[in-house]
Amino acid sequence: MTFRRVRGTRIFMHGVEVTSSAAVAALVVSCWGKEPYPAELTQGPSDPYGWSHEIVEGNTSLDVSQRLGRATSMIAGHSVRDIVTNPSVRVRGDDKSCVSCHAWATMVTRTEFCNRYVPVFLALPTSAGKPSDPASAKPQLLKDLLDEWRARGCPD
Ligand code: HEC
Repeated sequence: MTFRRVRGTRIFMHGVEVTSSAAVAALVVSCWGKEPYPAELTQGPSDPYGWSHEIVEGNTSLDVSQRLGRATSMIAGHSVRDIVTNPSVRVRGDDKSCVSCHAWATMVTRTEFCNRYVPVFLALPTSAGKPSDPASAKPQLLKDLLDEWRARGCPD
């Protein structure tokens, strides 16, 4: 790269005034060498959700900000772990947490939930939000979500 300074013109790169070709080269190399922004600024709503990373509107095409039936919680704003293991997170239409019916839910790990429980969950009946639903019925939205998560390899 050649650098020609036109008399009276000041050149800035990333807020630093450059006065020689060497300075330009140094700046270019320093920008190539590192992440342009700190990691916390590059982690945003499009980050994949997972066991401990929150589900938000930006990282799934599912309608996660609707509330099912009488649910206290919507799915958005929670991680998969929250939904499964936290008694105060209640996303089901009957406003019951997973742990209120399943003792295993409190202690379950990411891999155990992924490999042992998600496939069974997906195979259970789907709830229609009616009193006639079988006790084991699961909401379609949660099935879609867990299906999507599992298809991506159940990331954290
Ligand atoms: C109102 C009670 C109730 C709630 C709340 C509930 N389930 Fe279930 N679930 C059942 C019943 C009933 C079955 C059928 C098997 C059984 O009798 O344990 C079942 C079965 C399952 C199974 C198959 C493995 C097993 O334990 O039999 C999984 C996995 C499961 N539920 C996951 C969940 C998750 C995740 C949540 C929270 C989003 C949840 N359940 C909330 C009642 C419930």
